[in-house]
Formats: sequence, C-alpha cells, structure tokens
Amino acid sequence: MCGIIGYIGNRQATPILIGGLRKLEYRGYDSAGVSVIDPSSGAGSRVVRCRGKLSGLEQKLVAEPAVGTVGIGHTRWATHGRPSDENSHPHKVGAISVIHNGIIENHLTLRQELASAGAKFSSETDTEIFAHLVDHALTAGAPDLVTAVRRSLQKVRGSYAFVVMSDKEPGTLVAAKNSSPLVVGLGDGENYVASDVTAILSETRKVIFIEEGEMVVVTRDAVTITDFDGNVHKREPKIITWSALQAEKGGFKHYMLKEIHEQPRAVADTLVGRVDLENDDVLLDGIELDVKSIKRIIFIACGTSFHASLVGEFLIEALARIPVEVDVASEFRYRDPIIGKGDLVVAVSQSGETLDTMEAIREAKKKGAKVLAISNVLEASIPRLADYAFYTHAGPEIGVASTKAFTTQLVGMALLAIYLGRRTGTLKPEKARELLAELVALPQKLRDVVESGAQIQAIARRYGNATGFLFLGRGAQYPIALEGALKLKEISYIHAEGYPAGEMKHGPIALIDEHLPVVVLAPRGPSYEKTVSNLAEVRARQGKVIAIASRGDNEIGSHSDDVIVVPDVALELQPIVTVLPLQMLSYYVADFKGTDIDQPRNLAKSVTVE
Ligand code: AGP
Repeated sequence: MCGIIGYIGNRQATPILIGGLRKLEYRGYDSAGVSVIDPSSGAGSRVVRCRGKLSGLEQKLVAEPAVGTVGIGHTRWATHGRPSDENSHPHKVGAISVIHNGIIENHLTLRQELASAGAKFSSETDTEIFAHLVDHALTAGAPDLVTAVRRSLQKVRGSYAFVVMSDKEPGTLVAAKNSSPLVVGLGDGENYVASDVTAILSETRKVIFIEEGEMVVVTRDAVTITDFDGNVHKREPKIITWSALQAEKGGFKHYMLKEIHEQPRAVADTLVGRVDLENDDVLLDGIELDVKSIKRIIFIACGTSFHASLVGEFLIEALARIPVEVDVASEFRYRDPIIGKGDLVVAVSQSGETLDTMEAIREAKKKGAKVLAISNVLEASIPRLADYAFYTHAGPEIGVASTKAFTTQLVGMALLAIYLGRRTGTLKPEKARELLAELVALPQKLRDVVESGAQIQAIARRYGNATGFLFLGRGAQYPIALEGALKLKEISYIHAEGYPAGEMKHGPIALIDEHLPVVVLAPRGPSYEKTVSNLAEVRARQGKVIAIASRGDNEIGSHSDDVIVVPDVALELQPIVTVLPLQMLSYYVADFKGTDIDQPRNLAKSVTVE
C-alpha cells in the first residue's frame, strides 16, 4: 500500500517528509516523491520524484533541493501504471500537487472527459486525474482550494485518501478520505497529515483519525474537519501510546493479524472498477479474452495460490462450463504437459516472482498456450511474462503466511468465472447479478467474521497443545481445508492435513481419537448433510470437532464441540468467508505457542529458487 505524509509549519518540510516516508518503508513501495513549497518565496512548489527506493529520491534531492516549510510526500505501490518516475506521486497540474492512496474506480471515464476538455496527461495513473479535476474546478470558478477539492470529490468513485496542495494557497493542505486510512497529527504551530500514525509518531503523539466521507483542512495553527458538504465535525484528539513497532502493525500484535483484519478493505479494492451491475457483467481491466476459442483452462500455482486455483476450478466449471485442470507449477513444468492453442493457462502467484510458476509459464508459452497471470504485485516477473495480467490489489502482504492475498485471489477467481460464464452463455444475467451483488456485499460480511476473534482465540487455547489437526471439507470447501492445514503448519509448526471429507473413511479415520482436533467446513449447501455425517463419524471416535457453519444453523451444535459461525453467502462465494476463521485459528494457535508468526522458520515470502 502506498504511504502518505504532509507537513505544514515553520521547519524545513523535506527532512520531515523523508523521515515519515522511511517509517512507512516496511509496507513496500516502488517509487517515492515530494512536493515542497516555500511560502515566503512566492515561487511554486518543487516536485522531485523517483522510481525505486527512498535513497534514490534523497540523492535526487541533493541535486534538486526542495526547500520550504510546506510539503507532501508519498511512497507508491503501483496499481494503475507501471512503477516509473512519471507515475510516481505527487502529480502536479498547474498549481496543484496531489498525492493519493487507493484506486479511482471511474478513472477511465474521467480521463476521457478531461481529455476532451483539453487536459494533457503526463502519467498513466488514476491519481493524475484528480489533480486535473481540482485544477479544472479552479479554472471553472471555484473560489478556493477547499471548494475545488470538494467539487472534484463529487466526481470520483472509489477508495482514496488524497492530500492536495496549491502553489497559490501555500498555507493550506486539504485532505479527504474514503476507505483509505488518514490521520492528522497536531503540533505546536505545525501540523501533519499521514496515511498511518507510524509516519508522524516521532514528531507528535497527538492525533485525530479522519473518518469515512470526511475532508480536513490543515493550516499551521488549525485543523478543520468537515463532511463533503462542508458541515463541520468536531472531534477531540487522541494521544497515541503505541511504540513505533506497534504503530507499524496498526496496533496489532503481528502483521499477519493486521492483514487478516485488512481483508474487508482488500476485497473491496479487488472489486473496484470490475463489477458492472448495469450489464450483469465483469470488467477485466481491458483484458479481452477470446472465450469461445478456449477449450480448457489449466491453473498453475504453488502453495496457497494453488489452493485458490482449486477454488477457481470449482467456480469456472460451475459457472462457465469450461473444463479446468489445476497443477502444482513445479510438477507441471517437468511432466511434458499436453498443451496447445485451445488452452488458456492461468498462473496464480501473490508475489508474482515464484520461480516454479515462472518456469511453468515458459513451458506453457513454448507449447503455444496463452497465459493469464493473477498477481498481487504490479509489474512483477510473472505478470510481465504472461500475455494478460489481472491484479488483486490486496496491498503489500508482509506476513509470510498469506491471508489477504489469498482471499483477494478467490475474489479474482469469482470475477473470472462470471466473466467467462457470461461469454460462454452458461451464466444467466439473473444469476450473474445475484453473484455480483453478493460480491459487493462481501466486505461487510468479512468484517463480521474478523470480529469473532475472541471466540476463536479461546478455541485455539484449548487445542493449542495438540500434536496434529485434521481439516475436512467437500466441494469448494476442500481447497479451504487444504489452506487451513497449510496455514496451521506454516506458523504453528503443528502437523495438519486437509482432506476431502468423503475421503476420511479411506484412511485418515484411523488417526481419530480424543487427542485429534478435526476442523470441519460445513456451511449450508448441497453436501451439508453428508458433511454432518462425517462430523458424526469423528465424534463417534471421540475426535474433537470444530465446525465452521452458516449463521442460523441450529443443528450442527449437537454434533460438534465448538461451532464458529460465518455469514450466509451464495454457495460459490462461501470459500471467501469460511477461510477467515481458519486463518484466525492458525494465528491464535501459533500465538499461544509463541512462534515467530510473521517470519516462520525456513519460509520465505517469495520463493525464487527451485
Ligand atoms: C502461503 O502462506 C505460503 N507462504 C506459500 O505457500 C505461497 O503461497 C507459495 O510460495 C506461492 O507463492 P506465490 O503466491 O507468491 O507464488
């Protein structure tokens, strides 16, 4: 995720901005920049931007010093437009400098409108559009920066935290928030604005968190919060007592827990600009697949991304009726796969750098297949190697154990399946509409699940000393059982196996005794009754059952030791809600055992070796 900082006061802004951006480096970024004004000089702001690390920006600042007491700074993690100097923030149009976190959903339409009105663009980003909108509003008669920003906000849809500065009003920073975090720091004769408290903690601990749909006008001596209509919101500042490390983790004990809690927002970002409710369809970022020519889809991936691919198989076969195969990338590349022109290979990788997956793509391309990459990292090696790229926009994931990258891959699978199904004609508009509406409603439902942490923590404490776990599921819940087992192994070092629930009687049933916790995925659906029978079989052998069940299921409690309830969603989307309790269970078991959760032994975030 990108990082934001703004400063207005009497000290030199650049060192404060760079210091703040350094504190945000841990979040990952690919470019950085500042725009700084010296209000006493009457000259405009100086914008210095650079692809790459902050050290590169600092070197550039030696050659082109940005002097002044008012400024904004940004670290960018590319979403729209590759990492480059031109695409780095701040974007300057006329007198207006803008930094932005988030995604402007209607940027293509706005770009066309602005271009027809004569705007010239110097980047590929959605952010530059906002700088043009503000500049345009001023030219069209807005009396001041605040009004121009307010008018521009009415035109944009999407998630954002913006900070805007004008050469003509150097005593004011204007910021606005919708779905991306924004905080104001209060000083003495100086104030700050930032995406995270981490960025300003060394300067001040007195902060005001800006809420959804709010704007804030920051001067040296005052902070005024309003809604987008200008109604003033009064709010008392808070004193932050977190340490710098706690602040980096947003007050959570580990990055993994923070990332679990970020999933509602991450899923909303994956959906931005892709749900076309007017036409009951999906927009795939301009990707136009020749769907009629696709005879077969082959997923290639590793680890957690492999599990997401298994869910993809279920969804695409159900909604688009195209045959799907799923292969572990390291196996695919060495088995001389039969593959050719009618095949679409979908390579799934959160990091976009996994060597096994990359080599599997090379093999597929050599044999004439088209490749679509699903990646979380813009311009990583895998999406660059593929013919088409779909980005999940989960934001950087720091915990080695993948959580939000996985759920957003699942959302990507659902979008792809709907896109394909609408084009093969097997998915009727009514069903597509229902699924799209459910996808849009998902973030709120995921919020409900992440709030059930206390119950899951209590369960984790009870079973934290177990030496093994079994995870069972049927249909699209089987890959979730695999994922639950992998997560637990990765971070708690407890042996765990995921199994299709119907396979239990063919072997693993021998393991069951009073010491084996068995996690059973049993949301409502066609295989519910069969799954409940499996659960009864576990119980009959004294196994301990933790059931993941749909809200309102009053029956399952009599067959289980513990029930974790998830909200009702369409069958096709159930994996996205049922995986959350499993991530949380693994997290709390590992926390109970005191392992190194964010950097588990022997594991790496991106595996670039064979
Ligand atoms: C996930 O928790 C793991 N750390 C691991 O299995 C991972 O999914 C695998 O290495 C594939 O990574 P990728 O998605 O970046 O390609």
